[in-house]
Amino acid sequence: MAFQDYSLIQAPMAGGLSTAEGAGRAGALGSVGAGYLSGDAIMAAADGVRAAGGDAFAINLFVPAERDATDAEWRAALKALAPCYRQAGVPAPDHFSPLPDFREQFEAMLEARPAVFSWTFGRLPRSMMAACRARGITLVGTATHRDEALALAGDGVDGIVLQGEEAGGHRGGVDPQGEGLPLAELLSACRDIGTPLIAAGGLMDGADVARVMAAGAATGQLGTAFLRCPEAGTADGWRQALADAGPDATAVTRAVSGRWARGIANAWMDGRAPTEVAPYPDQHRLTSPLRKAAGVEWKSLWAGTGAHRGRALPVEELVRVIEEERRAAGR
Ligand SMILES: Cc1cc2nc3c(=O)[nH]c(=O)nc-3n(C[C@H](O)[C@H](O)[C@H](O)COP(=O)(O)O)c2cc1C
Repeated sequence: MAFQDYSLIQAPMAGGLSTAEGAGRAGALGSVGAGYLSGDAIMAAADGVRAAGGDAFAINLFVPAERDATDAEWRAALKALAPCYRQAGVPAPDHFSPLPDFREQFEAMLEARPAVFSWTFGRLPRSMMAACRARGITLVGTATHRDEALALAGDGVDGIVLQGEEAGGHRGGVDPQGEGLPLAELLSACRDIGTPLIAAGGLMDGADVARVMAAGAATGQLGTAFLRCPEAGTADGWRQALADAGPDATAVTRAVSGRWARGIANAWMDGRAPTEVAPYPDQHRLTSPLRKAAGVEWKSLWAGTGAHRGRALPVEELVRVIEEERRAAGR
């Protein structure tokens, strides 16, 4: 598959948010955000997309962190979170669930054999890249800086998601503390690399996609634009926050997971957020029960800077509208 065949990619969004079926039926490349799924759940999700007529799709996983939190980091982060649990009226648990095993997820992805495997938060070991290649799976890594894009190109990936700082959700670069760059700057720094570039971050309509294509991208990857689709698993409070969002509604935080992420500003982005934060993904485990049980102020309401331009349309209709806008903009 060539990325030039797709004028649009529906971004992977872990947590039951992706809408790969509808995107695929409408001719875009849909993505299954499988970062929080077990191996069995990944197989079931792939079967579900295929049964619904989305033949070509991507599966996306998180490359594991290089190290766990130390005992001291874990204790300090837990102590700093105690007032947050209290304020939210959620009892602090004494057990925090582990995240799914990456090796098991990867094996399930191989078996599911998607058209594309995309990953974020790191580089993929060569043996894993070879296993994908042997099955004809196209490889896509994520970069937030030119040096990361060059490293991925050197690894031999087929496409690079260039994620600008406007993007909703986690910054997908290799360095968990890495600064973001505006998408336009990132594209202009990387357009000579030679590997097809997939632009992401703040793109909400077809004119945005046409603009990044004119700046050297093969295609655009949109996440926030799909969060208000009725098919997306976006919870009601989050949906409402997106509908109410103004142009400055989003901010970044690393207090939710230990990695920088952008969402609708709430308690995680102001003085109520903990200042001692465990490294990713342990902070994610520590805050998970709070985010699940609390009200909207303590949920992670991931969204990009374009949140205020979102449209509450069914996925297939949204894809068609974006494609028309792109063509009208000359691409
Ligand atoms: C709710 C949400 C969840 C996300 N989850 C993932 C994920 O699981 N894997 C990934 O590579 N990127 C993830 N992202 C980032 C997107 O792939 C993409 O880079 C981003 O949505 C682009 O910016 P936009 O939201 O402004 O369109 C997520 C983004 C959002 C908004």
